[in-house]
Amino acid sequence: MARRGIGIIGTGKISGIYLKNLTGRFSKQVQVTAVADQHRESAEEAGALYKVPVFPDAAALIASPDVDIVLNLTPPQGHYQIALDAIRAGKHVYNEKPLCISRDQAAELLQTAADNKVRVGCAPDTFLGAGIQTSRKIINDGWIGKPLAAVAFMMNAGPENWHPNPAFFYKTGAGPLFDVGPYYLTALIHLLGRVTRVSGSAIMPVKTRTIGSEPLKGTVIDVEVPTHVAGTLDFASGVVATIITSFEIRVPSQLPWIDIYGTEGTLQVPDPNTFGGPVLLKRINNESWSEFPLLSEHACDCRGLGITDMAEAINEGRPHLASGKLAYHVLDVMHGFYDASSSGRSYKIKKDK
Ligand SMILES: NC(=O)c1ccc[n+]([C@@H]2O[C@H](COP(=O)([O-])OP(=O)(O)OC[C@H]3O[C@@H](n4cnc5c(N)ncnc54)[C@H](O)[C@@H]3O)[C@@H](O)[C@H]2O)c1
Repeated sequence: MARRGIGIIGTGKISGIYLKNLTGRFSKQVQVTAVADQHRESAEEAGALYKVPVFPDAAALIASPDVDIVLNLTPPQGHYQIALDAIRAGKHVYNEKPLCISRDQAAELLQTAADNKVRVGCAPDTFLGAGIQTSRKIINDGWIGKPLAAVAFMMNAGPENWHPNPAFFYKTGAGPLFDVGPYYLTALIHLLGRVTRVSGSAIMPVKTRTIGSEPLKGTVIDVEVPTHVAGTLDFASGVVATIITSFEIRVPSQLPWIDIYGTEGTLQVPDPNTFGGPVLLKRINNESWSEFPLLSEHACDCRGLGITDMAEAINEGRPHLASGKLAYHVLDVMHGFYDASSSGRSYKIKKDK
C-alpha cells in the first residue's frame, strides 16, 4: 500500500529523533515529504541532513499535495492553531503532547477533524513501546491478580539546565504536569482504563528560573505554571492511583516511576518516557523481583511509532492507537488536577460522548 507522506512543522530539539526514525526504521511504512520551521535555517539544516524538501512556512507545507499527515512538533502554544489549519485543509494531524493547551481548543480540534473526516493523533507514543506493552500483558494475564492501586512519580529539577530554549517549559501548556505528565497518565490509562475522578494540589513555590544551558545561559524565565503537582486518580475499574509531577526536586529520590499493586503481586513499570524496560514483578511469597523479558522489538527510542501506526491505520481503515481521543482524556485529567486544586473539590471526568 502507498506510503503516507508526512510533513514536519517544527525542526527543534525533538525533531531529530522523529526524522531519524521516520526516514530510517519506519521508512517502509511512511515517507517524510516536507519540513518547515519559522526559523528557516533550522528547517534547511534538517532538510539537508535527512534529504527532505524544505518549505518556507507552515502554511506552504500544509498546502503541499505530498503531505497527507502534518506532524506538529512546535511548542504547546503552537499545537492548536497549526493543527486546526491542517485539519481545515483536509490533512490528518499528529501533535506532540499536550494535544492543546485548553480543553475547549482540544474539543474543537477533534470535532473539526470529525467534520472533515481526517484523523487526529497525539504523542506520547512511548506506551506502544516494549516496556508498557509488556507491563500490560502481565496485568492482563493476571500475574498481579486484580489491580487495586498505583503510584506514579515524575520528579526532577526542571529542564533549564539541558534544553537550548527552555522558557516554554514554564509557560501555560507546559510545567511538569503538562510537559511530562502525559507520559505517566497515558501509560496509567493504557494499563488501568478510564479515569472517572481526580483531586489534586498544585503549587508554584518559585516565580523565576535561570537558564543554565547554552546558548541562553543566565536568562531569567518568568514561571507561569505550577511546578509541583500532587494528585489522586479514581479509575472506572475501582483502582486508585497517586501521582506527583515536579520540577522542584533538586536531589533525585529513589521512588519508582510507576508501581501497580494487585491482590497477588506488585508490578514495577519502567520509565514511561522511554520505550524499554526493565519490567519487574514480585508476587506474594516470591523472595525477589523477577525481570520480565520484553515482548516486542520497540525498546529503543522509537518516537514516530505512533504516527506510523496512524498512517497504517488510515490505509487499513482501522482505529489508530495514539489517538486524539486518548490525548483529550489525558488533557481533561491534567486540567482536573488544577481545577481540584483551585476549587478545593474533586473533579469528575465527564463521560465520553
Ligand atoms: N525536547 C524534548 O526532549 C521533547 C521530548 C518529547 C516531546 N517534546 C515536545 O515536542 C514539542 C517541541 O519541543 P522541542 O523541545 O523540540 O521545542 P523547540 O523549541 O526545540 O522546537 C520547536 C520548534 O518549533 C518551531 N516553531 C514554533 N512555532 C512555529 C510555527 N508557527 N511555524 C513553524 N515553526 C514553528 C520553532 O522555531 C522551533 O524550531 C513540544 O510540544 C514538547 O513538549 C519535546
